[in-house]
Amino acid sequence: MCGIVAYIGPKDATTFLLEGLQRLEYRGYDSAGVAVLGKSGALKVCKTKGRVADLAAALPARFKGTTGIGHTRWATHGEPSDANAHPHTDNAERIAVVHNGIIENADELRAKLTAEGAVFRSETDTEVLSHLVAAHLGDGEGQLEDAVRAALKLVVGTYGIAVVDSAQPDRIVVARNGSPIVLGLGEKEMFAASDVAALVRYTRQVVHLEDGELAVVRADGFRTFTEDARTVTRQPSTVDWEVGSYDTGGYEHYLLKEIHEQPAAVERTLSGRLDERFATAHLGGLNLDARELREIRRVKILGCGSAYYAGEMGAQLIEELARIPAHSEPASEFRYRNPVIEADTLYVAVSQSGETYDTLAAVQEIKRKGGRVLGVVNTVGSAIARECDGGIYLHAGPEISVASTKAFTSTVIAFALLALHFGRIHDLSPADGRRIVSALKALPGHIRQILEQDKEIAELAAKYADNAGMMFIGRVRGYPVAREGAQKLKEISYVHAEAYPASELKHGPLALISPELPTVALVPDDELLDKNLTTLGEIKARSGRVLAVAHRAPEAKLADHCILVPKSEPELDPLLLNIPLQLLAYHAAVALGRDVDKPRNLAKSVTVE
Ligand code: AGP
Repeated sequence: MCGIVAYIGPKDATTFLLEGLQRLEYRGYDSAGVAVLGKSGALKVCKTKGRVADLAAALPARFKGTTGIGHTRWATHGEPSDANAHPHTDNAERIAVVHNGIIENADELRAKLTAEGAVFRSETDTEVLSHLVAAHLGDGEGQLEDAVRAALKLVVGTYGIAVVDSAQPDRIVVARNGSPIVLGLGEKEMFAASDVAALVRYTRQVVHLEDGELAVVRADGFRTFTEDARTVTRQPSTVDWEVGSYDTGGYEHYLLKEIHEQPAAVERTLSGRLDERFATAHLGGLNLDARELREIRRVKILGCGSAYYAGEMGAQLIEELARIPAHSEPASEFRYRNPVIEADTLYVAVSQSGETYDTLAAVQEIKRKGGRVLGVVNTVGSAIARECDGGIYLHAGPEISVASTKAFTSTVIAFALLALHFGRIHDLSPADGRRIVSALKALPGHIRQILEQDKEIAELAAKYADNAGMMFIGRVRGYPVAREGAQKLKEISYVHAEAYPASELKHGPLALISPELPTVALVPDDELLDKNLTTLGEIKARSGRVLAVAHRAPEAKLADHCILVPKSEPELDPLLLNIPLQLLAYHAAVALGRDVDKPRNLAKSVTVE
């Protein structure tokens, strides 16, 4: 939820810290701060409520140092304020700490430290870390890395941290447990961050810390070790993505760029995975052979928010193509209900970031009970990807905007591949396999056709944006589309949006229909078309306004406006029907003057419970 950066080297740290924080701002953006150590070792801290731009404006002119740490925050303990912003220091202002995660036993530690004389100046859980590290350093000459290691032994919770000590300006100590930390290797300089996005302009050589690992980082290198002081060797890897993948690339917002990147993202998700000869999909990372897959009787998909809705589309694909019962459930609910784990159920965890704490906890719970979990994940090497027994990487590319678009679409593609693979192992005929393979290949072109309507959809969004709310309806395959469409609209435009199965409308929500509550209706040209048209008639009969997203425009008396979408195979239609809803939400948010990429109260990766 928070972004961490750190620099040590010959240059002024502040330049990297501010730029790195700007690139990580999508992880949290209610306050920001930096701490640097100058050549003399004096600790300087500047932090403020607000954005990284506010921090840059607040920095004193002579705020310079060659060792530094920075943080952009999404509040968990304590409101967004200058005092609660990171870095946090000890009473002697010797230690500074930035932290991403949650210290679960913070109250207990705070009481103990207070009794020992520590004076707390914030409401955060993080501040206990600075006092704890200071307490372990004492007045002596102890090494910072030993003090951090000893302090973390007392901590229960999740963390990615970076710590500096004004008495030891030649090093930064970082540690990871549940929240990512990546080291960046430079020429006589070293970087660290919670995401490679902050590093790629400076270095492509990175080292991902594992949970339970620490590193002492100096300008000329690093040493990684475990919580029990055992040295571990980590080989650097090279970041695959170009620097430009982390920029807006000339678009006004990351979100618009990511919506328009979808044809290329889908091509990457499909790349090398379609087998035309056997009309199936190759998924090398599943780590399950055909015999093992045949033994699976049920599929349970787990994810949060849009990942959960993509899972709903995935469940329908698996049921339709493989005829295996499949169901998607919010991971955030699953993990708390003592779930029954069955040997013949395949569990699939979905996550763009690979960091979502609820999803990670669900995976851990399944594994603890002996279940088998696959991951459908975008971020390579992320916590969820590593925790799973196998899986499918999306290769959608970095997704920076808080609202998920291209990762959502690529997730549905990954499920289509899984369903095809499953289906062809079971009873899906070669002819049906070929039908799906050729439809998948056509999808990037179909998405491009929809994106060409950007301008027309922007005009429609302007017409609908100023309503207090909107209803989204879809039947069966269209229902997850409606849910994701409503989610996107409320997330970035703050317009209330409610998704309902079209079939359920007359069982209650029809009472809401009025000219002030327009309906976005998913109307695919499939076996349920007549039923959907009947529902439109019922809405129009109650003076409701209808914006249809359809393969064929309904009669004018049934819909006020229509966005046309190219027809795919019925099983894949939901994926295409969703694309205009992304543009609708985006343009509605722009029309309302919202902060599209960083909507209020949210953050990109939800690494807390
Ligand atoms: C999507 O637009 C949302 N920002 C949110 O629902 C997101 O999908 C959810 O938090 C899960 O994130 P993940 O895919 O990184 O696990």
